[in-house]
Amino acid sequence: MSENNNLTGWQKFIKRWTKANEIGKEDEVMTDHNYDGIRELDNVLPPWWVAGFIITIVISVFYYIMVFTGNYNQEQEYKDSIAEAKIEHAAWEKQDRINNPEKYTAAKATTDAASLKKGKELFLAKGCIACHGVDGGGGIGPNLTDNKWVLGGGFEKIFNTISKGGRPGKGMVAWEASISKTDRQLLASYIISIQGTTPTNPKSPEGEIVWPN
Ligand code: HEC
Repeated sequence: MSENNNLTGWQKFIKRWTKANEIGKEDEVMTDHNYDGIRELDNVLPPWWVAGFIITIVISVFYYIMVFTGNYNQEQEYKDSIAEAKIEHAAWEKQDRINNPEKYTAAKATTDAASLKKGKELFLAKGCIACHGVDGGGGIGPNLTDNKWVLGGGFEKIFNTISKGGRPGKGMVAWEASISKTDRQLLASYIISIQGTTPTNPKSPEGEIVWPN
């Protein structure tokens, strides 16, 4: 008892919740099991562990009642949360349409000389030439002047490729993160305008596959 009085509050707390047997007092809890000289102590289960165990048993009773006898239904819970998310998303989109109207208008091609000039400047400035060549003849990326398309031709599909990138691992990234919608429109329009031109060192036509549809 006198030993106990010298303990700090924290030490008493630990002692109460672990009930650990003190070093040097092993004999008090030694069992008579002896396996090839390996003996066994009969320590009590630590109260913190027992408390946790009891708590899980108590929770399991409530869980059992809720899941097996009530009208709880996991599938319904999932459906409800999807429905809730749809409502939230609709509200968000309503606001987003007000804040970013240009996001919701279809991309449109431009054909006037000034826009095409701007598109060409972007093509040179944004690094497209590293993979598609200065004149669009191709390199790491496909030739952009022929009528074969790996990812689909026409303004909309080309705009989509520039925005969303190519197939994974091919090297064509999604430029929507770094190039504005206006500029992507100008780029796609410029690419359309170089159809049928003859690059100095054209890469042979690739594709026809239309992806994504
Ligand atoms: C790191 C190299 C790289 C850069 C930089 C790059 N591209 Fe590409 N691009 C590719 C590759 C590779 C493909 C083919 C992707 C595939 O096969 O899925 C491709 C495909 C395309 C296509 C579709 C071609 C087709 O046949 O369907 C267009 C259009 C295009 N790129 C435009 C651009 C524009 C515009 C830029 C600059 C903003 C650009 N690319 C920058 C590598 C690049």
